[in-house]
Amino acid sequence: MTVSTSNQRLSELSADALVVGVHAESRPAGYAAEFDRACGGMLSRLIEAKEITGKKCDVITLLAPPGVKAGLVVVVGMGAKDALDRGLAFRAAAAASKTLAAKERSRAVFALADNWPAEVTEAAIAGSVVGCVGQDLYRAKKSRFPLAEIVWAGVDAAVAGRGEILGEAVNLTRRLVNEPPSAMFPESFAAEAASVAEASGISIEVWDQARLEAERCGSLLAVARGSDREPRLVILKYSGGPADAPPLALVGKGVTFDSGGLSIKPNDGMKTMKCDMAGAATVLGAMQAIARLQLPLNVIGLCGLVENMLSGSSYKLGDVLHARSGKTIEVLNTDAEGRLVLADVLAVALQFQPAKIIDLATLTGACVVALGNDVAGLMTNNQPWADAVKAAADAAGEPLWQLPMFAEYGEQIRSEVADIKNVGEGRWGGAITAAKFLEEFVAGKRWVHLDIAGPAFLESSKPWLDAGGSGYGVRTLVEVARANAH
Ligand code: BES
Ligand code: MN
Ligand code: ZN
Repeated sequence: MTVSTSNQRLSELSADALVVGVHAESRPAGYAAEFDRACGGMLSRLIEAKEITGKKCDVITLLAPPGVKAGLVVVVGMGAKDALDRGLAFRAAAAASKTLAAKERSRAVFALADNWPAEVTEAAIAGSVVGCVGQDLYRAKKSRFPLAEIVWAGVDAAVAGRGEILGEAVNLTRRLVNEPPSAMFPESFAAEAASVAEASGISIEVWDQARLEAERCGSLLAVARGSDREPRLVILKYSGGPADAPPLALVGKGVTFDSGGLSIKPNDGMKTMKCDMAGAATVLGAMQAIARLQLPLNVIGLCGLVENMLSGSSYKLGDVLHARSGKTIEVLNTDAEGRLVLADVLAVALQFQPAKIIDLATLTGACVVALGNDVAGLMTNNQPWADAVKAAADAAGEPLWQLPMFAEYGEQIRSEVADIKNVGEGRWGGAITAAKFLEEFVAGKRWVHLDIAGPAFLESSKPWLDAGGSGYGVRTLVEVARANAH
Protein backbone atom coordinates (compact mmCIF):
# COMPACT_ATOMS: atom_id res chain seq x y z
CA MET A 1 0.00 0.00 0.00
CA THR A 2 1.34 3.46 -0.85
CA VAL A 3 -0.08 6.86 -0.02
CA SER A 4 0.57 9.76 -2.35
CA THR A 5 -0.91 13.16 -3.14
CA SER A 6 -2.19 14.83 -6.27
CA ASN A 7 -3.20 18.34 -7.29
CA GLN A 8 -4.94 17.40 -10.53
CA ARG A 9 -8.54 18.39 -11.15
CA LEU A 10 -11.04 15.66 -10.28
CA SER A 11 -12.23 15.30 -13.87
CA GLU A 12 -8.66 14.67 -15.01
CA LEU A 13 -7.60 12.23 -12.32
CA SER A 14 -7.31 8.65 -13.45
CA ALA A 15 -8.31 6.18 -10.81
CA ASP A 16 -10.45 3.11 -10.26
CA ALA A 17 -12.42 4.97 -7.66
CA LEU A 18 -12.99 8.44 -6.32
CA VAL A 19 -14.12 9.32 -2.80
CA VAL A 20 -15.95 12.55 -1.98
CA GLY A 21 -17.69 13.63 1.21
CA VAL A 22 -21.04 15.21 1.96
CA HIS A 23 -22.06 16.86 5.22
CA ALA A 24 -25.47 16.28 6.73
CA GLU A 25 -28.08 18.80 5.66
CA SER A 26 -25.68 20.58 3.33
CA ARG A 27 -25.27 21.06 -0.36
CA PRO A 28 -22.10 19.68 -1.92
CA ALA A 29 -19.07 21.85 -1.15
CA GLY A 30 -15.39 21.76 -2.08
CA TYR A 31 -14.44 18.60 -3.94
CA ALA A 32 -18.00 17.28 -3.76
CA ALA A 33 -19.18 20.44 -5.52
CA GLU A 34 -16.47 19.98 -8.15
CA PHE A 35 -17.69 16.44 -8.71
CA ASP A 36 -21.30 17.64 -8.78
CA ARG A 37 -20.49 20.09 -11.57
CA ALA A 38 -18.57 17.44 -13.50
CA CYS A 39 -21.47 15.00 -13.39
CA GLY A 40 -24.09 17.58 -14.27
CA GLY A 41 -25.69 18.00 -10.84
CA MET A 42 -26.29 14.31 -10.22
CA LEU A 43 -24.95 14.53 -6.66
CA SER A 44 -27.17 17.44 -5.65
CA ARG A 45 -30.18 15.70 -7.15
CA LEU A 46 -29.43 12.61 -5.05
CA ILE A 47 -29.11 14.81 -1.96
CA GLU A 48 -32.38 16.56 -2.70
CA ALA A 49 -34.07 13.19 -3.13
CA LYS A 50 -32.60 12.21 0.25
CA GLU A 51 -30.86 9.22 -1.30
CA ILE A 52 -27.66 10.71 0.10
CA THR A 53 -27.97 12.18 3.59
CA GLY A 54 -24.43 12.88 4.73
CA LYS A 55 -25.05 10.89 7.90
CA LYS A 56 -21.80 9.94 9.68
CA CYS A 57 -19.95 7.13 7.88
CA ASP A 58 -22.84 6.37 5.51
CA VAL A 59 -21.33 5.10 2.29
CA ILE A 60 -23.14 5.35 -1.05
CA THR A 61 -21.49 4.07 -4.21
CA LEU A 62 -22.26 5.53 -7.61
CA LEU A 63 -21.36 3.44 -10.64
CA ALA A 64 -19.96 5.05 -13.77
CA PRO A 65 -21.11 8.62 -13.08
CA PRO A 66 -20.51 10.98 -16.01
CA GLY A 67 -17.77 13.59 -16.03
CA VAL A 68 -15.04 11.71 -14.18
CA LYS A 69 -12.68 8.97 -15.28
CA ALA A 70 -13.23 6.77 -12.22
CA GLY A 71 -15.78 4.02 -12.78
CA LEU A 72 -16.88 4.21 -9.18
CA VAL A 73 -17.52 7.17 -6.93
CA VAL A 74 -17.97 6.69 -3.22
CA VAL A 75 -19.89 9.38 -1.38
CA VAL A 76 -19.22 9.20 2.32
CA GLY A 77 -21.27 10.91 5.01
CA MET A 78 -19.25 13.38 7.07
CA GLY A 79 -21.94 14.28 9.64
CA ALA A 80 -22.69 17.82 10.72
CA LYS A 81 -20.29 20.30 9.21
CA ASP A 82 -19.23 21.98 12.47
CA ALA A 83 -18.77 18.63 14.24
CA LEU A 84 -15.98 17.36 12.01
CA ASP A 85 -13.07 16.28 14.18
CA ARG A 86 -10.19 13.83 13.93
CA GLY A 87 -12.22 10.89 15.23
CA LEU A 88 -14.91 11.32 12.62
CA ALA A 89 -12.43 12.08 9.82
CA PHE A 90 -10.63 8.82 10.65
CA ARG A 91 -13.83 6.79 10.70
CA ALA A 92 -15.42 8.32 7.61
CA ALA A 93 -12.32 7.80 5.49
CA ALA A 94 -11.98 4.28 6.89
CA ALA A 95 -15.62 3.52 6.05
CA ALA A 96 -15.06 4.61 2.44
CA SER A 97 -11.83 2.63 2.27
CA LYS A 98 -13.47 -0.47 3.73
CA THR A 99 -16.19 -0.31 1.06
CA LEU A 100 -13.63 0.09 -1.73
CA ALA A 101 -11.64 -2.88 -0.46
CA ALA A 102 -14.54 -5.25 -1.03
CA LYS A 103 -13.10 -5.81 -4.52
CA GLU A 104 -9.67 -5.63 -6.01
CA ARG A 105 -9.07 -1.98 -6.88
CA SER A 106 -5.63 -0.65 -7.38
CA ARG A 107 -5.89 3.13 -7.27
CA ALA A 108 -8.36 5.18 -5.27
CA VAL A 109 -8.40 8.95 -4.99
CA PHE A 110 -9.69 10.45 -1.75
CA ALA A 111 -10.97 13.97 -2.42
CA LEU A 112 -12.19 14.76 1.07
CA ALA A 113 -9.81 17.26 2.60
CA ASP A 114 -11.41 20.62 1.83
CA ASN A 115 -9.02 22.99 3.59
CA TRP A 116 -9.12 20.83 6.67
CA PRO A 117 -6.67 21.46 9.51
CA ALA A 118 -3.55 19.31 9.04
CA GLU A 119 -4.33 17.04 12.02
CA VAL A 120 -7.81 16.28 10.70
CA THR A 121 -6.40 15.44 7.27
CA GLU A 122 -3.73 13.29 8.85
CA ALA A 123 -6.36 11.33 10.83
CA ALA A 124 -8.45 10.82 7.69
CA ILE A 125 -5.43 9.55 5.77
CA ALA A 126 -4.72 7.13 8.60
CA GLY A 127 -8.34 5.99 8.37
CA SER A 128 -8.00 5.34 4.64
CA VAL A 129 -4.98 3.11 5.36
CA VAL A 130 -6.75 1.24 8.17
CA GLY A 131 -10.24 0.72 6.73
CA CYS A 132 -9.16 -1.31 3.70
CA VAL A 133 -7.37 -3.95 5.78
CA GLY A 134 -9.48 -6.74 7.24
CA GLN A 135 -8.65 -9.90 9.10
CA ASP A 136 -7.83 -12.12 6.15
CA LEU A 137 -4.51 -13.39 7.51
CA TYR A 138 -5.52 -17.02 7.15
CA ARG A 139 -8.22 -17.00 4.48
CA ALA A 140 -7.62 -18.37 1.01
CA LYS A 141 -10.59 -16.40 -0.27
CA LYS A 142 -9.94 -12.83 0.82
CA SER A 143 -12.79 -10.59 1.95
CA ARG A 144 -10.78 -7.35 1.71
CA PHE A 145 -8.37 -6.21 -0.96
CA PRO A 146 -6.18 -3.50 0.51
CA LEU A 147 -5.88 -0.61 -1.91
CA ALA A 148 -2.53 -0.71 -3.67
CA GLU A 149 -2.40 3.03 -4.21
CA ILE A 150 -4.16 5.61 -2.06
CA VAL A 151 -4.04 9.12 -3.49
CA TRP A 152 -5.13 12.13 -1.43
CA ALA A 153 -6.19 15.12 -3.49
CA GLY A 154 -4.88 18.54 -2.55
CA VAL A 155 -2.94 17.38 0.47
CA ASP A 156 0.53 18.36 1.57
CA ALA A 157 2.98 15.47 1.08
CA ALA A 158 4.31 15.75 4.64
CA VAL A 159 0.80 15.47 6.06
CA ALA A 160 0.16 12.44 3.85
CA GLY A 161 3.37 10.86 5.12
CA ARG A 162 2.35 11.36 8.74
CA GLY A 163 -1.13 9.97 8.13
CA GLU A 164 0.35 6.91 6.48
CA ILE A 165 2.68 6.34 9.45
CA LEU A 166 -0.25 6.53 11.86
CA GLY A 167 -2.40 4.20 9.78
CA GLU A 168 0.38 1.64 9.42
CA ALA A 169 1.00 1.68 13.17
CA VAL A 170 -2.68 1.00 13.83
CA ASN A 171 -2.58 -1.83 11.28
CA LEU A 172 0.53 -3.29 12.94
CA THR A 173 -1.27 -3.42 16.28
CA ARG A 174 -4.37 -4.94 14.67
CA ARG A 175 -2.37 -7.61 12.89
CA LEU A 176 -0.54 -8.70 16.04
CA VAL A 177 -3.85 -8.94 17.92
CA ASN A 178 -5.49 -10.86 15.07
CA GLU A 179 -2.76 -13.47 14.85
CA PRO A 180 -3.94 -16.69 16.50
CA PRO A 181 -2.45 -17.47 19.91
CA SER A 182 -0.36 -20.36 18.68
CA ALA A 183 1.35 -18.02 16.23
CA MET A 184 1.62 -15.01 18.53
CA PHE A 185 3.26 -16.10 21.79
CA PRO A 186 5.85 -14.35 23.94
CA GLU A 187 8.86 -15.32 21.86
CA SER A 188 7.25 -14.60 18.49
CA PHE A 189 5.90 -11.27 19.75
CA ALA A 190 9.42 -10.37 20.88
CA ALA A 191 10.71 -11.27 17.41
CA GLU A 192 8.08 -8.97 15.83
CA ALA A 193 9.15 -6.23 18.23
CA ALA A 194 12.78 -6.71 17.24
CA SER A 195 12.01 -6.33 13.55
CA VAL A 196 9.89 -3.23 14.16
CA ALA A 197 12.65 -1.77 16.34
CA GLU A 198 15.33 -2.44 13.75
CA ALA A 199 13.30 -0.93 10.92
CA SER A 200 12.38 2.23 12.82
CA GLY A 201 15.50 3.19 14.75
CA ILE A 202 14.44 1.99 18.20
CA SER A 203 16.82 0.12 20.46
CA ILE A 204 15.51 -3.06 22.00
CA GLU A 205 16.40 -5.37 24.83
CA VAL A 206 14.59 -8.68 25.40
CA TRP A 207 14.66 -10.42 28.76
CA ASP A 208 14.22 -14.18 28.56
CA GLN A 209 13.25 -16.58 31.33
CA ALA A 210 16.75 -16.71 32.84
CA ARG A 211 17.09 -12.94 32.86
CA LEU A 212 13.62 -12.49 34.36
CA GLU A 213 14.62 -14.91 37.12
CA ALA A 214 17.88 -13.06 37.71
CA GLU A 215 15.90 -9.82 37.86
CA ARG A 216 13.52 -11.33 40.45
CA CYS A 217 10.33 -10.83 38.42
CA GLY A 218 8.54 -13.39 40.58
CA SER A 219 5.04 -12.12 39.91
CA LEU A 220 5.28 -12.22 36.10
CA LEU A 221 7.13 -15.55 36.21
CA ALA A 222 4.41 -17.16 38.33
CA VAL A 223 1.80 -16.46 35.64
CA ALA A 224 4.07 -17.91 32.97
CA ARG A 225 4.78 -21.11 34.89
CA GLY A 226 1.78 -23.10 33.66
CA SER A 227 2.73 -22.63 30.03
CA ASP A 228 5.15 -24.51 27.78
CA ARG A 229 6.02 -21.14 26.28
CA GLU A 230 8.68 -19.06 27.98
CA PRO A 231 7.82 -15.50 28.97
CA ARG A 232 9.60 -12.43 27.62
CA LEU A 233 9.96 -8.82 28.62
CA VAL A 234 10.54 -6.45 25.71
CA ILE A 235 12.13 -3.09 26.48
CA LEU A 236 12.07 -0.57 23.62
CA LYS A 237 13.99 2.68 23.83
CA TYR A 238 13.39 5.61 21.53
CA SER A 239 15.67 8.59 22.07
CA GLY A 240 14.29 11.62 20.26
CA GLY A 241 14.85 14.11 23.06
CA PRO A 242 17.84 15.45 25.00
CA ALA A 243 19.91 12.66 26.56
CA ASP A 244 19.12 13.81 30.09
CA ALA A 245 15.36 14.30 29.59
CA PRO A 246 13.38 11.73 31.60
CA PRO A 247 11.38 9.47 29.28
CA LEU A 248 7.69 8.85 28.93
CA ALA A 249 7.07 5.19 29.82
CA LEU A 250 4.49 3.12 27.93
CA VAL A 251 3.72 -0.24 29.51
CA GLY A 252 1.59 -2.95 27.88
CA LYS A 253 -0.06 -6.13 29.10
CA GLY A 254 1.00 -8.88 26.74
CA VAL A 255 -0.84 -12.03 27.78
CA THR A 256 -0.68 -13.80 24.43
CA PHE A 257 -3.43 -16.15 25.54
CA ASP A 258 -5.50 -16.02 28.72
CA SER A 259 -7.09 -19.37 29.54
CA GLY A 260 -7.64 -18.14 33.09
CA GLY A 261 -5.12 -20.66 34.42
CA LEU A 262 -6.43 -22.98 37.15
CA SER A 263 -9.29 -20.49 37.63
CA ILE A 264 -10.15 -21.54 34.09
CA LYS A 265 -12.46 -19.45 31.96
CA PRO A 266 -15.63 -20.93 30.48
CA ASN A 267 -15.51 -21.50 26.73
CA ASP A 268 -17.31 -18.30 25.80
CA GLY A 269 -15.06 -16.16 27.94
CA MET A 270 -11.94 -17.76 26.45
CA LYS A 271 -12.88 -17.48 22.77
CA THR A 272 -11.37 -14.04 22.24
CA MET A 273 -8.49 -14.29 24.69
CA LYS A 274 -5.86 -14.07 21.97
CA CYS A 275 -6.63 -10.36 22.29
CA ASP A 276 -5.16 -10.23 25.79
CA MET A 277 -1.86 -8.95 24.41
CA ALA A 278 -3.52 -5.88 22.89
CA GLY A 279 -1.91 -3.55 25.45
CA ALA A 280 1.55 -4.72 24.41
CA ALA A 281 0.63 -4.54 20.71
CA THR A 282 -0.63 -0.98 21.20
CA VAL A 283 2.61 0.01 22.86
CA LEU A 284 4.59 -1.50 19.97
CA GLY A 285 2.40 0.23 17.36
CA ALA A 286 2.73 3.57 19.13
CA MET A 287 6.52 3.20 19.49
CA GLN A 288 6.79 2.50 15.77
CA ALA A 289 4.78 5.62 14.91
CA ILE A 290 6.61 7.84 17.42
CA ALA A 291 9.97 6.75 16.03
CA ARG A 292 8.97 7.08 12.37
CA LEU A 293 7.54 10.55 13.09
CA GLN A 294 10.84 11.37 14.79
CA LEU A 295 9.04 13.09 17.65
CA PRO A 296 11.45 15.06 19.84
CA LEU A 297 11.15 13.22 23.14
CA ASN A 298 12.43 10.10 24.88
CA VAL A 299 10.06 7.17 25.22
CA ILE A 300 10.50 3.72 26.62
CA GLY A 301 8.04 0.99 25.78
CA LEU A 302 7.76 -2.15 27.88
CA CYS A 303 5.79 -5.24 26.89
CA GLY A 304 5.24 -7.96 29.51
CA LEU A 305 4.70 -11.16 27.55
CA VAL A 306 3.34 -14.39 29.02
CA GLU A 307 0.85 -17.10 28.24
CA ASN A 308 -1.63 -17.88 31.07
CA MET A 309 -2.15 -21.66 30.90
CA LEU A 310 -2.90 -24.70 33.04
CA SER A 311 -0.58 -27.57 33.72
CA GLY A 312 1.08 -29.42 36.56
CA SER A 313 3.35 -26.45 37.06
CA SER A 314 0.65 -23.76 37.09
CA TYR A 315 0.67 -21.22 39.88
CA LYS A 316 -2.02 -21.96 42.42
CA LEU A 317 -4.65 -20.31 44.56
CA GLY A 318 -3.07 -19.54 47.91
CA ASP A 319 0.40 -19.10 46.44
CA VAL A 320 2.32 -16.11 47.71
CA LEU A 321 4.43 -14.43 45.04
CA HIS A 322 7.47 -12.25 45.49
CA ALA A 323 7.16 -9.33 43.12
CA ARG A 324 10.23 -7.52 41.87
CA SER A 325 9.33 -4.45 43.94
CA GLY A 326 9.71 -6.49 47.14
CA LYS A 327 5.97 -6.74 47.83
CA THR A 328 4.36 -10.13 48.39
CA ILE A 329 1.11 -11.04 46.63
CA GLU A 330 -1.43 -13.67 47.65
CA VAL A 331 -3.03 -15.32 44.60
CA LEU A 332 -6.75 -15.94 44.99
CA ASN A 333 -7.66 -16.11 41.32
CA THR A 334 -5.25 -17.12 38.56
CA ASP A 335 -7.47 -15.34 36.03
CA ALA A 336 -6.48 -11.98 37.55
CA GLU A 337 -3.09 -12.48 35.89
CA GLY A 338 -2.69 -9.22 33.98
CA ARG A 339 -2.08 -7.19 37.13
CA LEU A 340 0.55 -9.75 38.25
CA VAL A 341 2.40 -9.33 34.98
CA LEU A 342 2.13 -5.55 35.09
CA ALA A 343 3.29 -5.37 38.72
CA ASP A 344 6.75 -6.48 37.64
CA VAL A 345 6.80 -4.61 34.34
CA LEU A 346 5.90 -1.38 36.14
CA ALA A 347 8.75 -2.05 38.57
CA VAL A 348 11.15 -2.37 35.64
CA ALA A 349 9.73 0.81 34.09
CA LEU A 350 10.53 2.73 37.28
CA GLN A 351 14.23 1.96 36.80
CA PHE A 352 14.26 4.28 33.81
CA GLN A 353 13.22 7.23 36.03
CA PRO A 354 10.26 8.02 33.76
CA ALA A 355 8.66 11.44 33.98
CA LYS A 356 5.25 9.87 33.50
CA ILE A 357 3.80 6.40 32.97
CA ILE A 358 0.87 5.07 30.97
CA ASP A 359 -0.06 1.41 31.05
CA LEU A 360 -2.51 -0.20 28.66
CA ALA A 361 -4.17 -3.50 29.45
CA THR A 362 -7.15 -5.62 28.52
CA LEU A 363 -7.39 -5.95 32.27
CA THR A 364 -10.97 -6.55 33.39
CA GLY A 365 -14.37 -7.66 32.13
CA ALA A 366 -15.69 -5.34 34.84
CA CYS A 367 -14.48 -2.33 32.85
CA VAL A 368 -16.54 -3.54 29.88
CA VAL A 369 -19.55 -3.95 32.17
CA ALA A 370 -19.05 -0.39 33.40
CA LEU A 371 -18.36 1.40 30.13
CA GLY A 372 -19.36 -0.91 27.29
CA ASN A 373 -17.33 -2.06 24.33
CA ASP A 374 -16.45 1.26 22.76
CA VAL A 375 -14.94 3.16 25.66
CA ALA A 376 -11.73 2.55 27.61
CA GLY A 377 -11.48 3.18 31.35
CA LEU A 378 -8.91 5.61 32.70
CA MET A 379 -7.63 5.41 36.27
CA THR A 380 -4.86 7.46 37.79
CA ASN A 381 -2.93 8.60 40.84
CA ASN A 382 -2.40 12.06 39.36
CA GLN A 383 -5.23 14.21 38.04
CA PRO A 384 -3.23 16.63 35.85
CA TRP A 385 -1.59 13.70 34.06
CA ALA A 386 -5.00 12.04 33.63
CA ASP A 387 -6.39 15.28 32.22
CA ALA A 388 -3.54 15.42 29.71
CA VAL A 389 -4.13 11.84 28.57
CA LYS A 390 -7.88 12.42 28.35
CA ALA A 391 -7.29 15.57 26.28
CA ALA A 392 -5.05 13.59 23.92
CA ALA A 393 -7.65 10.84 23.54
CA ASP A 394 -10.39 13.41 22.89
CA ALA A 395 -8.24 15.09 20.27
CA ALA A 396 -7.40 11.77 18.60
CA GLY A 397 -11.07 10.76 18.70
CA GLU A 398 -10.67 7.64 20.85
CA PRO A 399 -13.30 7.63 23.60
CA LEU A 400 -12.23 7.04 27.19
CA TRP A 401 -13.76 7.79 30.55
CA GLN A 402 -12.28 8.20 33.99
CA LEU A 403 -13.23 5.95 36.90
CA PRO A 404 -12.64 6.99 40.53
CA MET A 405 -9.83 5.70 42.72
CA PHE A 406 -11.20 6.23 46.25
CA ALA A 407 -9.13 4.66 49.03
CA GLU A 408 -12.05 2.38 49.95
CA TYR A 409 -11.46 0.30 46.83
CA GLY A 410 -7.87 -0.26 47.91
CA GLU A 411 -8.95 -1.79 51.20
CA GLN A 412 -10.46 -4.68 49.27
CA ILE A 413 -7.06 -5.97 48.18
CA ARG A 414 -5.54 -6.24 51.66
CA SER A 415 -4.47 -9.80 52.36
CA GLU A 416 -4.37 -11.85 55.57
CA VAL A 417 -1.13 -13.54 54.60
CA ALA A 418 0.73 -11.23 52.22
CA ASP A 419 1.17 -7.50 51.54
CA ILE A 420 -1.63 -7.54 49.01
CA LYS A 421 -3.92 -10.00 47.23
CA ASN A 422 -4.69 -10.16 43.55
CA VAL A 423 -8.50 -9.78 43.63
CA GLY A 424 -11.04 -7.63 45.47
CA GLU A 425 -13.79 -8.85 47.79
CA GLY A 426 -16.35 -9.54 45.06
CA ARG A 427 -16.96 -8.69 41.44
CA TRP A 428 -18.27 -5.17 42.01
CA GLY A 429 -15.97 -2.35 41.04
CA GLY A 430 -13.52 -4.86 39.58
CA ALA A 431 -11.95 -2.42 37.12
CA ILE A 432 -11.05 -0.14 40.00
CA THR A 433 -9.75 -2.76 42.44
CA ALA A 434 -7.49 -3.93 39.60
CA ALA A 435 -6.21 -0.38 39.13
CA LYS A 436 -5.72 -0.04 42.89
CA PHE A 437 -3.53 -3.14 42.71
CA LEU A 438 -1.40 -1.60 39.94
CA GLU A 439 -1.11 1.65 41.88
CA GLU A 440 0.83 -0.29 44.54
CA PHE A 441 3.62 -0.77 41.99
CA VAL A 442 4.18 2.73 40.61
CA ALA A 443 5.84 4.20 43.71
CA GLY A 444 3.80 7.39 43.56
CA LYS A 445 5.07 8.36 40.08
CA ARG A 446 2.65 10.11 37.76
CA TRP A 447 0.71 7.21 36.28
CA VAL A 448 -2.36 6.59 34.12
CA HIS A 449 -3.87 3.15 33.62
CA LEU A 450 -6.02 2.53 30.55
CA ASP A 451 -8.25 -0.54 30.74
CA ILE A 452 -8.86 -1.31 27.05
CA ALA A 453 -10.68 -4.65 27.56
CA GLY A 454 -13.72 -3.24 25.69
CA PRO A 455 -12.43 -1.32 22.69
CA ALA A 456 -9.24 -3.30 21.89
CA PHE A 457 -11.14 -6.06 20.15
CA LEU A 458 -14.35 -5.83 18.13
CA GLU A 459 -16.51 -8.92 18.18
CA SER A 460 -18.50 -7.61 15.22
CA SER A 461 -17.68 -5.19 12.44
CA LYS A 462 -18.28 -1.46 12.53
CA PRO A 463 -19.12 0.50 9.38
CA TRP A 464 -15.52 1.73 9.37
CA LEU A 465 -13.68 -1.33 10.63
CA ASP A 466 -13.80 -5.08 10.32
CA ALA A 467 -14.12 -7.12 13.49
CA GLY A 468 -11.01 -8.19 15.37
CA GLY A 469 -8.20 -6.10 16.77
CA SER A 470 -9.08 -2.41 16.52
CA GLY A 471 -5.75 -0.72 17.17
CA TYR A 472 -7.50 1.36 19.83
CA GLY A 473 -5.05 3.54 21.75
CA VAL A 474 -2.26 3.88 19.19
CA ARG A 475 -3.40 7.31 18.04
CA THR A 476 -3.97 8.50 21.60
CA LEU A 477 -0.46 7.47 22.63
CA VAL A 478 1.07 9.26 19.65
CA GLU A 479 -0.94 12.36 20.59
CA VAL A 480 0.29 12.11 24.19
CA ALA A 481 3.87 11.86 22.90
CA ARG A 482 3.35 14.93 20.72
CA ALA A 483 2.00 16.90 23.66
CA ASN A 484 5.00 15.83 25.77
CA ALA A 485 7.61 16.59 23.13
CA HIS A 486 10.40 19.00 23.99
N1 BES B 1 -8.05 -10.71 30.18
C1 BES B 1 -9.08 -10.68 31.14
C2 BES B 1 -10.00 -9.48 31.02
C3 BES B 1 -10.81 -9.35 29.76
C4 BES B 1 -12.14 -9.71 29.75
C5 BES B 1 -10.26 -8.81 28.62
C6 BES B 1 -12.90 -9.55 28.60
C7 BES B 1 -11.02 -8.65 27.45
C8 BES B 1 -12.34 -9.02 27.46
C9 BES B 1 -8.46 -10.63 32.54
O1 BES B 1 -7.24 -11.28 32.69
C10 BES B 1 -9.41 -11.33 33.46
O2 BES B 1 -9.63 -12.48 33.30
N2 BES B 1 -9.96 -10.58 34.41
C11 BES B 1 -10.88 -11.11 35.34
C12 BES B 1 -10.54 -10.54 36.69
C13 BES B 1 -11.23 -11.22 37.83
C14 BES B 1 -10.76 -12.65 37.96
C15 BES B 1 -10.93 -10.47 39.10
C16 BES B 1 -12.27 -10.72 34.90
O3 BES B 1 -12.44 -9.63 34.35
O4 BES B 1 -13.19 -11.50 35.09
MN1 MN C 1 -7.48 -13.34 33.11
ZN1 ZN D 1 -6.11 -11.43 31.02
